[in-house]
Amino acid sequence: MEAVRSQFPLLKREIAGRPLVYFDNAATSPKPQPVIDAVIDYMARYSANIHRGKHTLSEEASDAYENSRSKVARFFNADRAEIAFVRGATEAIHLVAGGLKLRPDENVVGTILEHHSNILPWSSRCEFRAAPLGPDGLPDLEQAERLIDAKTRLLTVTHTSNVTGAVVPVRAWVDLARAHGSLILIDAAQAASHSDIDAQALGADFLVVSGHKLFAPTGIGVLIGRREALEELQPTPLGGGAVSLVRGDFSFEPRDLPWRLEAGTPHIAGAIGMGAAVDFLTEIGMGPIEQRNAELSRLLYERIGTLEGLTPLGSSAGVARAPILSLVEPTGTLTPDYLSRLLSDSYGVMTRGGHHCAHPYHEQAGVNGSLRLSLHFYNTEEEVEHTARALEQLLAMVVPRGP
Ligand SMILES: Cc1ncc(COP(=O)(O)O)c(C=O)c1O
Repeated sequence: MEAVRSQFPLLKREIAGRPLVYFDNAATSPKPQPVIDAVIDYMARYSANIHRGKHTLSEEASDAYENSRSKVARFFNADRAEIAFVRGATEAIHLVAGGLKLRPDENVVGTILEHHSNILPWSSRCEFRAAPLGPDGLPDLEQAERLIDAKTRLLTVTHTSNVTGAVVPVRAWVDLARAHGSLILIDAAQAASHSDIDAQALGADFLVVSGHKLFAPTGIGVLIGRREALEELQPTPLGGGAVSLVRGDFSFEPRDLPWRLEAGTPHIAGAIGMGAAVDFLTEIGMGPIEQRNAELSRLLYERIGTLEGLTPLGSSAGVARAPILSLVEPTGTLTPDYLSRLLSDSYGVMTRGGHHCAHPYHEQAGVNGSLRLSLHFYNTEEEVEHTARALEQLLAMVVPRGP
């Protein structure tokens, strides 16, 4: 553990006079040294544009960028042509929503658990229908099926909730989409760094990944798609790098996949950083990471999820979950924002207070925001204990309990 933690310079910081506890991994993960080094190396030694020049630096940058694509493809067991670099999961979903040319009379069936980024790209173009949650806190598949009709173009579901950490059995959603002849997009923004995802085995049409939650820099992510599904997309936006020819009448020939989906100068440093990030994760192993996170999740729910005076959201025994826990102080004395501020400034614990870009989920739960603790494999049992005690102290001060 010490060897792993020593690779994150951020963890050497002190806040509130004690070592930083970073429990905001679902917002963005800290960056390990190999990722930082890869980005600095590109910027310092071969900073140049890609696929455009024939000089040494441009070739080095192009090779590094494409090499990263190969690494990411291997990591998710996809073909290189099926990996398009984008700014993040939000942009990947927009690329699909825009590329499908959805009409207002068509619909997309999703769930109430979705992040705003997996609602608005659809609802701004067509009808978005949200399946409710079942008693186990997972999206109800049967109810989702009832929402599908002849105008349903696509089904979408989050793989892992960014609020409750619940892991959705997404294979069943892929089967449901297949049974109804609709496309399926899985939001793996959270899942990609928590679960071992095999794109081929999963068989979804589209899988969206956020690089910055996977230990890569911000501003990078990937759209992974089945080749035939990607080919159906009308590329948006268009521009340099996405076409092989623009004629005198301004008609054009799109480039092959995946470049036709990468118009303009991409985030070269970010893509190179993402290659280093998947190398970093591969070296540790997604198997051990999944196992470690399952242990952290159990501890988090047992120690902090059961604290008197706090109510966990979506908690249900028997549901697999990433170590993400959202809590509400039901009297409203300690608002999520206030708790988060106190944990940061008095105890050095970074958490998130608010709606976590999931207003519809919070609304159906009848709460106005929550305090989210999101851990990852490098976090420790001691950090959980420190945070539990901090919360106990805060609750004891503000919410009088007992006689
Ligand atoms: C489940 C989920 N989907 C989508 C997103 C958006 O990802 P990005 O920041 O890469 O656009 C997030 C980010 O918080 C998320 O948690």
